[in-house]
Amino acid sequence: MPEKIIFFDTTLRDGEQSPGFSMNIDEKVRLALQLEKLGVDVIEAGFPISSQGDFEAVKKVSEVIQFSTVAGLCRANKKDIEVGWEALKGAKSPRIHTFIATSPIHMKYKLNKSAEEVLEISKEAVKFAKSLCADVEFSAEDATRSDIDFLCKLIEEVIKLGATTINIPDTVGYTVPEEYSQMVTTILNKVPNIDKAILSVHCHNDLGLAVANSLAAVLAGARQIEGTINGIGERAGNAALEEIIMALNVRKDFYKDVTCSINTQEIYKSSRLLASITGIDVQPNKAIVGKNAFAHEAGIHQDGVIKMRTTYEIMTPESIGLPSNKLVLGKHSGRHALSARLEELSFKLNKEELDKVFYKFKELADKKKEVYDEDLIAIVENQLTKIQEYYTLEYVNIVSGNSTVPTATVQLLKDNNIITDASIGDGPVDAVFKAIERITDIPGRLKDYKIKAITAGKDAQGEVVTVVEFEKSGVNVSGHAISTDIIYASAVAYVNALNRYLSRVNR
Ligand code: KIV
Ligand code: ZN
Repeated sequence: MPEKIIFFDTTLRDGEQSPGFSMNIDEKVRLALQLEKLGVDVIEAGFPISSQGDFEAVKKVSEVIQFSTVAGLCRANKKDIEVGWEALKGAKSPRIHTFIATSPIHMKYKLNKSAEEVLEISKEAVKFAKSLCADVEFSAEDATRSDIDFLCKLIEEVIKLGATTINIPDTVGYTVPEEYSQMVTTILNKVPNIDKAILSVHCHNDLGLAVANSLAAVLAGARQIEGTINGIGERAGNAALEEIIMALNVRKDFYKDVTCSINTQEIYKSSRLLASITGIDVQPNKAIVGKNAFAHEAGIHQDGVIKMRTTYEIMTPESIGLPSNKLVLGKHSGRHALSARLEELSFKLNKEELDKVFYKFKELADKKKEVYDEDLIAIVENQLTKIQEYYTLEYVNIVSGNSTVPTATVQLLKDNNIITDASIGDGPVDAVFKAIERITDIPGRLKDYKIKAITAGKDAQGEVVTVVEFEKSGVNVSGHAISTDIIYASAVAYVNALNRYLSRVNR
């Protein structure tokens, strides 16, 4: 009988803590709900003691998630665990995840503690966590550079005190598949009570081996895999969950001893949602979810695929829920047709959400002849991201050309007042941003600006992502918007970043 692999998603914790990937509470909740649809077994929602925002996000995610376990990260001390539990205790299935470093280099230079002290701290932490919560995960940070005998001893002791999952992270992405596999084997053979816990792996991608290491560990007997959507995370990222899921799926013949309960058709949507929330897309050649992952360019390949798909395709786009590039609706389509298509794309919207999406769809269908699934997905993602609107863009007009000084006039709505101003700039987008800055009196430095077409065709919608640092705060905030008018989308994306910044400041 194949054994179940537990998928532990840490997109909202390890993923979110890397630069450029921060999310607000509503965004975390939306992503968590999508992760639940994907079928991940555990959602690590944050590191509650690290900030008020993280605490609230873990609390909110705990309240809304019905089926997955919700975990919160805590260092191995009483205060962290108490705060973590406070955030998690409303969850249907909460998990306290506590950790401490076990490698000589971390113990000496980071913790300034001896191995004996680390052992005692770990025991105390697990004992305390267990007094609050039945489900306790213990991680031995930098396990792959730790002394294996010490690690085995420590694992045995924390299992005695009630740890139900033992995680052995490759924190710095240092190990290689054969070595990691041996480590799993040694722990399974040497720790006498290991059958009382699930052995988990958590790999970083510094050598590009995170997925390979995770899969090697599964073959050796690990039964929980930790990772993130799109492989986001510290430095080179974490193991990309979608890659591991599809490897286990496509190569069921090889990974015969394991099974999992992931709904692979939710992979594409999970990846897109994360990219749209953070404004950071995956590279085109990224396995499984990259734009080119299912594109066949070479003539020989195209010919082969036409004759028999499996000549060059080891999995179908449908298996990850990739929309079929189908022409769906036109400007005469009604609300019912839209709602039916959205359901086929597995979006279940309430009436208020559908009204908003329908309005935007009609606006788009008036401008654009063909509305594709990708357009619909972009509209839904955009409409459902709730950000408090301190400023709303009411009007933008530009004058631009090769013999004109680019000039923009902008109107913003704030507290029911319309404020109008104008500015010149180096180009129309610059003029728009400067006009917004004059109205708000909040200086912003544009750190990044990206524009891309959502579908093919001259009338395609443009998606604009702006990354702005406001008031020299040192924090880069991203904003995004879509429209067939890229200047308008740029203005909305800038105002979106500003509203996110103000939400953060006011919190
Ligand atoms: O990489 C790591 O070691 C971690 C632990 C805190 C689990 O993220
Ligand atoms: Zn990590």
